[in-house]
Formats: sequence, C-alpha cells, structure tokens
Amino acid sequence: MDISDLALRAIVDYVSRRGGADLSGYRESYLKRRIEYRMKSAGVDSVENYLKLLRTSDEEIKNLLDAITINVTEFMRDKTPFESFRKNVLKEIVERKKRSGSNIIRIWSAGCSYGEEPYSIAICVMEELNEDWRVTIYATDVDENCLNFAKNGVYEEKSILNLDPKIVEKYFEKINGKFKVKPILQKCVKFRKHDLIKDPPISRHFDVIFCRNVIIYFNDKQKDKVFADFYDSLSIEGYLIIGKSETIPEKFKSHFDCINLRDKIYKKVSGR
Ligand SMILES: C[S@@+](CC[C@H](N)C(=O)[O-])C[C@H]1O[C@@H](n2cnc3c(N)ncnc32)[C@H](O)[C@@H]1O
Repeated sequence: MDISDLALRAIVDYVSRRGGADLSGYRESYLKRRIEYRMKSAGVDSVENYLKLLRTSDEEIKNLLDAITINVTEFMRDKTPFESFRKNVLKEIVERKKRSGSNIIRIWSAGCSYGEEPYSIAICVMEELNEDWRVTIYATDVDENCLNFAKNGVYEEKSILNLDPKIVEKYFEKINGKFKVKPILQKCVKFRKHDLIKDPPISRHFDVIFCRNVIIYFNDKQKDKVFADFYDSLSIEGYLIIGKSETIPEKFKSHFDCINLRDKIYKKVSGR
C-alpha cells in the first residue's frame, strides 16, 4: 500500500478543503502512516479507492482527521514536569510578580486534547497558590470533539488513576461512577478552538506555555512557525514546556534557555 507523494498531495488537498483542517503542516511520513492505517481499517486496498471513499463519505474524512490528530493524554502526564512546574516554575513566577506588584498569571495549554493537561495545571495552581492570585489557563485544540468533552469535564475512573485520592476527593465529584471536575477547577480554565498550523497565536504575555506531545507530528517548517509564535506569545522570562520526546528546533535554540532538560522546561531569552 505504497502512497506516492502525488497521491498524498491529492488526499491532503481534498481533506484540507472538505474537513476544514489544514494538514499541510504535518510530516509527510507521519501522514502516510496515518492514511495507511485508515485504509486498512476501512478495508480499502488502493490509494485511488481510498480517495473515492473520501469523496463519498464525510464520516471517513472525520475518521482520517481523528487518526491524524491523535488525542492520547492523561492527568499529570509523565508526572515530573508537573512537579517541576509547581515547585520551581510557579514559585519563581510568583516571586517575580510580587516584586512587580502583579497578581495575574496567564498560562496556555496548546493542544490540550480532552482537558487532562489544563486541569492538571489548574490542580497544581490551586494546590500551590492562595486566592489572592488571579490565574487563567487558556486551553486550545484543533479538535472540537475534544474541547466539548473537556468543557464538560467528566472522566472515567481509569483517567484519574495518576491522581492522589485526596486530590480526587478535593477537585472531582463522583456522579454515576464517573468523576466530574468541580466548578472551583473549571472556572480557571477557558477552552477554545485554535489550530497551531494555520491560526495566529491566541494572545500574548503568557507566563507559561505548555505544548506537550503535539509538535512531534509537525514538519520542520511548521515547527519553526509554532516556535516563532510561542516566542512572541511569551512574556519576558516566560516559560515553555514541551513533551519529553520533543526538542527545540535548531533555529530557535538561542531563543530559549534550558532550565530543566529532564522535564523539557525552557525560558524565553529576550531580545531575539
Ligand atoms: C497526543 S495529544 C497531547 C495532549 C496533551 N498536550 C498531552 O501531552 O497529554 C495531541 C493533541 O494535539 C492536538 N493537535 C494536533 N494538531 C493540532 C493543531 N494543528 N493545532 C492544535 N492542536 C493540534 C490533537 O487534537 C491532540 O488533542
């Protein structure tokens, strides 16, 4: 089931036009693998037939988009980045803000999937800071299904296994065997649709940007666009936290100081 570059272009152009998502920023090898996976699942044996299927089935377009924007996530994913965020990053920001007389902290969770990441950030914030602080977590994703699920904030028991039972009791309400995020946590997270590939940054002056396990699927040109956007969106001395297997593109290495290599925490270097 070899997919030629020409066939890939045809599929990318068609789905981008019909599906409303821009696929041009993803790595070609990654797109080919995801298309092959969908072809197998749909029982289609040639690229020509797969294109025919896409032209007649909105459901297959959706299936392919779902396969490309992989949504795997969990609360406190990898654990230590959230511990370092809470114990080091937040503490440093608070000291700096106190000196400048501000009590506002703005955080962006880019590629937030079903909401586990922004709610984990919110838990760290609530556990670490008192009510004097005004903290907003902007949580964005290209996938509207994920955002609707996240806004609702109801999780299966298996999703919350990483969390300490005391934290679960404090921030979740048990309803019919599921766990609903309490309003105290929900009120500091704002969900909205945003495509890192085609949209400009949602805002500026963020103190922290989390973008974990998202850019791994992007091609080099697209990664450069995203890191330029993150650089512009961070406030002076703002922090960028990326996924454990992700790296800062060569072109942007001088834009960010590495603060914690294990947890992939970086700090903006001003004046670049
Ligand atoms: C593997 S999940 C990572 C979720 C979370 N950040 C974590 O580390 O657990 C990747 C998320 O990136 C989102 N995504 C993929 N392409 C995107 C794009 N172009 N713009 C915004 N989000 C995107 C997917 O919809 C998915 O929810």
